[in-house]
Amino acid sequence: MNQFAAAFLLIGFVSVNAQIDKRNVLQYLEDGNFTTLVNLVKRVGLAAPLSTGIVVCINPYYIFAPTDEAFNKLPVDVLLKLRADPSSVLGFLQFHVVGGIAINNMFTNGSTFDTLNNKTIHIIKYKNNATVANGVPISQNEVIVRNGVIHKVDRVLLPLEKSISEYLGEHDIQFQDLYAALVLEGYEKALEGGNFTLFAPEDHAFSSIIAALPTITADDNLFKKILAMHVVPGVYFSAALTDGMKLTTLAGNQLTVSINSKVFIDGAQVIVTDVATTNGAIHTITSVITPPSST
Ligand SMILES: *[C@@H]1O[C@H](CO)[C@@H](O)[C@H](O)[C@H]1NC(C)=O
Ligand SMILES: *[C@@H]1O[C@H](CO)[C@@H](O)[C@H](O)[C@H]1NC(C)=O
Ligand SMILES: *[C@@H]1O[C@H](CO)[C@@H](O)[C@H](O)[C@H]1NC(C)=O
Ligand SMILES: *[C@@H]1O[C@H](CO)[C@@H](O)[C@H](O)[C@H]1NC(C)=O
Ligand SMILES: *[C@@H]1O[C@H](CO)[C@@H](O)[C@H](O)[C@H]1NC(C)=O
Repeated sequence: MNQFAAAFLLIGFVSVNAQIDKRNVLQYLEDGNFTTLVNLVKRVGLAAPLSTGIVVCINPYYIFAPTDEAFNKLPVDVLLKLRADPSSVLGFLQFHVVGGIAINNMFTNGSTFDTLNNKTIHIIKYKNNATVANGVPISQNEVIVRNGVIHKVDRVLLPLEKSISEYLGEHDIQFQDLYAALVLEGYEKALEGGNFTLFAPEDHAFSSIIAALPTITADDNLFKKILAMHVVPGVYFSAALTDGMKLTTLAGNQLTVSINSKVFIDGAQVIVTDVATTNGAIHTITSVITPPSST
């Protein structure tokens, strides 16, 4: 056992699931499936701080380490930004590293951690014990190495920069109809006033209710209600969703989550999950959720 881990054990911080490893952060990553991460870390000059550790417990780092698979899932807009501006890679990586000590047992609901580039990671811990960092699930099994703690993540972490409304406004290629509807009904501002989960119908979802649209838009209350049926107070990233779970919307009705190999919300299939914003989560769905009588 390394002394760093021993110190943790002594103060009773380490969960029973933690693995303990003699290597340092960089060595551990080099031996695992973190090829892209290691290449980038070396390229931007982060290798040195992650491979110290002769003197234990000085300058330890907690790293959320995206696997190669995580890099393969990098959202296209993020990939393009990183390619267009290679200097942004450093900040992107620094956002995965927390100076000091941050282990699983310190991840309580609502806790925050400042990363090496001075941005904040927000932790949510759900009733089902799933824990997410900016929406990305973190497993229970951290690895305590000689100079820090490693947590494997299967998606990259991104800073929370836009609110739900701002995100929709900026991605109006996908959400033009929804965004227009929200603005029209005055929900755009209301969505800034709390933490929400939005089930956002992509544009072609609206075509499925086109026959009913004249009736819906003619009845302002109905239209408002339909929009409100897509908004759930509270932040539910996919890690929090379980089969059969009911979510109460702003309209007061309940949405039922069903999970088999795919995820459905009241019959609408979820195709993109876990867009993390400053005030909640966005999941893209393929159809518009409507009250039974309006379709
Ligand atoms: C790397 O990934 C492969 C394929 O998924 C797996 O078999 C192997 O055990 C992994 N190696 C490590 C060190 O985790
Ligand atoms: C983060 O803040 C610290 C302390 O204020 C400062 O020394 C450091 O340069 C900042 N780092 C970045 C990347 O902004
Ligand atoms: C976590 O914190 C949020 C925001 O404060 C709260 O709404 C939620 O109920 C909390 N979850 C649990 C499981 O305590
Ligand atoms: C969550 O963790 C607590 C403490 O370890 C445990 O008592 C509880 O049963 C767990 N809940 C679920 C849903 O796994
Ligand atoms: C969202 O939740 C966080 C944490 O509970 C809270 O600090 C923040 O004020 C909430 N945001 C809004 C817009 O209500």
